[in-house]
Amino acid sequence: MRPGGLLAILGGGQLGRMTAMAARTMGYRVRVMDPEPACPASFVVDETIVGRWDDVDAARRLATGADAVTLEIEQIGVDALTEVARLSPLRPGVEPIRIIQDKTLQKTWLADNGFSVGPFRVVRSEDDLHEAARALGGRVFLKIGRGGYDGRGQARIGLDGPATDASVAEAWKTIGEKPAVAEQALDLDCEISVMAARNPSGEVRSYAAARNHHENQILAWSVLPAGMSAELEARAEALAAAMIAQLGIEGLLCVEMFLTRQGELLVNELAPRPHNSYHQSERGCVTSQFEQLVRTTCNLPLGDTSLIVPAAIANLLGDVWLTGEPDFAAALAVPGVRLHLYEKHTPRAGRKMGHLSATGATAEEALERVLEAKRRL
Ligand SMILES: Nc1ncnc2c1ncn2[C@@H]1O[C@H](COP(=O)(O)OP(=O)(O)O)[C@@H](O)[C@H]1O
Ligand SMILES: [Mg+2]
Repeated sequence: MRPGGLLAILGGGQLGRMTAMAARTMGYRVRVMDPEPACPASFVVDETIVGRWDDVDAARRLATGADAVTLEIEQIGVDALTEVARLSPLRPGVEPIRIIQDKTLQKTWLADNGFSVGPFRVVRSEDDLHEAARALGGRVFLKIGRGGYDGRGQARIGLDGPATDASVAEAWKTIGEKPAVAEQALDLDCEISVMAARNPSGEVRSYAAARNHHENQILAWSVLPAGMSAELEARAEALAAAMIAQLGIEGLLCVEMFLTRQGELLVNELAPRPHNSYHQSERGCVTSQFEQLVRTTCNLPLGDTSLIVPAAIANLLGDVWLTGEPDFAAALAVPGVRLHLYEKHTPRAGRKMGHLSATGATAEEALERVLEAKRRL
């Protein structure tokens, strides 16, 4: 699809917005679909179609006349995806999204395909969960199959004191008594992610691994490169490349991984789209994750994923606004720092409103700059 064509995106949140901005840079016109008319992407696209994630009719309107369609959120109904795929090339494709959008299918797929994951059980009832909590040693992260993100749709068992029958029952209620994955709570040394890209010709490239820090299960900051040994770095990149090929994705796949204190490299979860932990690719890499998604979606050659300069981001959650307007000028006085706001108009605790990014001579310097800027807000 040549520049000048119409690119459509399922979802108009910040990931859709930044993808749309990259597409516009290359001369594409952009249309998005989102439940919210004033979604972050709406301010930078040609057209916003309002519709819920399972709205087949809205999906049809999105895809009609589009030269290619991609997505920025995996929670799109399979019927809506199938309708889109009938009308226009849908990249990454229906089947990988069907597997990834349900954590019970995703974890099972990973284990069945020989990718290392921590001990887990799929649970469908409170009885299953009692049984799983015992089998997993009593310390458990319980994650709802569909729709969870940023720690939402999760409950923890046995982390503040031993698991009891009551705490198991409570956790089952907390996630709404829906099919879920129960995972053994792992002893983490650090968290990393690797972004891979694959185009319709089957060409695959990985980015350098990012090191991620979460607070309250939400990404707080991320830095490129991760600073691991060359051996671990190569293993992590090869893992993401193998996985994107095996899933047959035409687009992006971000693989979140755990490095445990026992030295194991385990897969946590998958995202078939741009990811919060690669926003710094806009600053540090030859090709940003957003441009890369445009390239794969439009069947263009993949961009160079090399790191040019170390880069970091720190998320700005709604909490930052709760005590008054942040002091952006003070933050922007820190060398190398840029401000990214998503035009979300109602700050709420835990809501991702924007991020700060910085480059530096080293990963430590980039991270220190972005954290200093955040303190100054
Ligand atoms: N099994 C686990 N052991 C230890 N920490 C975990 C485990 N599962 C999740 N976490 C922590 O919670 C965070 C969010 O969980 P994740 O499965 O990535 O869900 P989300 O969809 O909310 O990102 C992880 O990045 C990690 O910090
Ligand atoms: Mg996650």
